Amino acid sequence: MTTQPTEPRVRDREQTAERLLASSAKLSFDPLQDVDWQSPPVPGRYYSPAHHLSLYGTDLWERLTEEQRIELSKHEVASIAAVGIWFEEILMQMLLRHAFDRDPTTAHVQYALTEIADECRHSVMFARMISWMGVPAYGPDRLAHNLGRIFKATSTHSQTFGGTMYVEEILDAFQREVMNDESLQPLTRQVSRIHVIEESRHISYAREELLRGRLGPVRRRWEQLFVGLIVYFATTSLINPRLYAAVGIDPQAGRRAAAANPHWRATKVRLAGKVITVLDRAGLVGRTNRWLLRRAGVLA
Ligand SMILES: [Fe+2]
Ligand SMILES: [Fe+2]
Repeated sequence: MTTQPTEPRVRDREQTAERLLASSAKLSFDPLQDVDWQSPPVPGRYYSPAHHLSLYGTDLWERLTEEQRIELSKHEVASIAAVGIWFEEILMQMLLRHAFDRDPTTAHVQYALTEIADECRHSVMFARMISWMGVPAYGPDRLAHNLGRIFKATSTHSQTFGGTMYVEEILDAFQREVMNDESLQPLTRQVSRIHVIEESRHISYAREELLRGRLGPVRRRWEQLFVGLIVYFATTSLINPRLYAAVGIDPQAGRRAAAANPHWRATKVRLAGKVITVLDRAGLVGRTNRWLLRRAGVLA
């Protein structure tokens, strides 16, 4: 594992961590206090923008009533939140492994521990939101779930921070739109706002750590393959097909319609655009994984 700075523009690890620790001390949230869990959903409001939904623009979408479309938005937000918890639980363990091998008196390790505390609160917040919605915690399918079990125990430096950046950036892009859309449910907007603020620090930490790595040509291909697998499983898990049954759509028919939906594909390409550029800059996009990124629908 190479952890020394390799690029003149990369800021020193300690300086980055000190800045992030100072920012955390200034602005952090307690979702149990800072979200109004007592307020019921506002009737007639979507939980995420309609154009973000996996079936938006399809024939199946045209056949849904307005109430069913709102219901679909609720289940899709819950599905994304459950995948968020799955990945945060993976990330907390990867960050603990990162801290375990390093000096705890450094700001770098102290920020890793601070980030774990943030993710812990986020997972409780997402779980509470799913309960508040009264829908199941769908989560990824069994294969993705069990691949996560292996990945969190064995990930390398590039896989830990490449995978982290990917999931954090696509959630960030999605939640920024939710938080800024005044027509949506106030509670999902507040949950998104809290997450966006705290995640911006995590993204800085992961991005700078990722760009510090130096990979030889063979190792780079190996890491690209794994990053491609993370992108594929994280993206294809976002919408659990079981949720389509909540609006009277057969899950397999819904899954096929979403997979063929150019709108949904364009949404995924847009959400992933920024992070794919950073992964590319870190040498983690190439021939070895481009096909996986395309299959995940995040590369045009
Ligand atoms: Fe988080
Ligand atoms: Fe995070």
